[in-house]
Amino acid sequence: MISAQCISRWPLLAQAAIILSFFSTFTSGSATSSCYGNSTTLDWYIDAVGETPCMTYQQLRQICNSNYQTPSWDIDAPTDQCDDPLSTCCCNSIAWSIRMLCINCQWDEFGTSDPGHSANAGAYYQYRWSTGTPNSGTYCGDGWNQTLQEGIQQIVCERGIQLSDFLYSIFWPDGSWDFTTFEQLAEETIASHNSQSLSYCGNSTNTTAPTN
Ligand SMILES: *[C@@H]1O[C@H](CO)[C@@H](O)[C@H](O)[C@H]1NC(C)=O
Ligand SMILES: *[C@@H]1O[C@H](CO)[C@@H](O)[C@H](O)[C@H]1NC(C)=O
Ligand SMILES: *[C@@H]1O[C@H](CO)[C@@H](O)[C@H](O)[C@H]1NC(C)=O
Ligand SMILES: *[C@@H]1O[C@H](CO)[C@@H](O)[C@H](O)[C@H]1NC(C)=O
Repeated sequence: MISAQCISRWPLLAQAAIILSFFSTFTSGSATSSCYGNSTTLDWYIDAVGETPCMTYQQLRQICNSNYQTPSWDIDAPTDQCDDPLSTCCCNSIAWSIRMLCINCQWDEFGTSDPGHSANAGAYYQYRWSTGTPNSGTYCGDGWNQTLQEGIQQIVCERGIQLSDFLYSIFWPDGSWDFTTFEQLAEETIASHNSQSLSYCGNSTNTTAPTN
């Protein structure tokens, strides 16, 4: 089998095609494998990364909680929180952003005419409470913004988890999140990469051997 480390060093399009065909054989129909109905709104993400944001989110959280599975969220119903006992994987703005993209994938009932689902100031702060309600439940802390704790980042690279660099670069310090702006900035980043890997772990010119 081809290891994830190898795949992450390949040109972006080849990488996407391989991962898509690999996952589609056994995840079709799950919350992580497709967006709402036949929604194409998140195709820019899926085409660039090779999976839905819900799948990327699941892989990030599974570093800390191997049982974590991205739920199927009912539209406009409460979603999830950073509530794993080992919260380092979700207590960061990368997890928060990828989860917002996942919500937009799952809730896209109106397709391209859907204005998207954004979040108000303070929403990222609420996500960091296990209950979603400040001063109730467990607070994971101030977390990591636009970065991951070093040990988590290392595992992300070792496992070849596809955290694109736009997840690190796009951030609203007031804890809000805007779909339209995010999409526009991320698409600009993707275009500027010119088919090179979007992975934060290095690109195809990085010839360092994988560590395992
Ligand atoms: C998605 O598209 C397929 C093929 O066109 C169609 O059969 C199916 O009903 C569609 N699903 C939804 C949820 O619209
Ligand atoms: C990260 O940003 C949020 C803004 O929502 C802030 O509350 C938090 O203190 C910041 N964390 C760090 C470590 O600076
Ligand atoms: C190259 O890849 C290695 C292993 O993933 C990583 O530690 C290193 O930071 C990367 N270097 C650059 C310049 O991206
Ligand atoms: C890839 O990494 C090298 C070395 O860090 C850098 O000089 C180059 O600009 C990067 N290329 C892209 C397309 O990101």
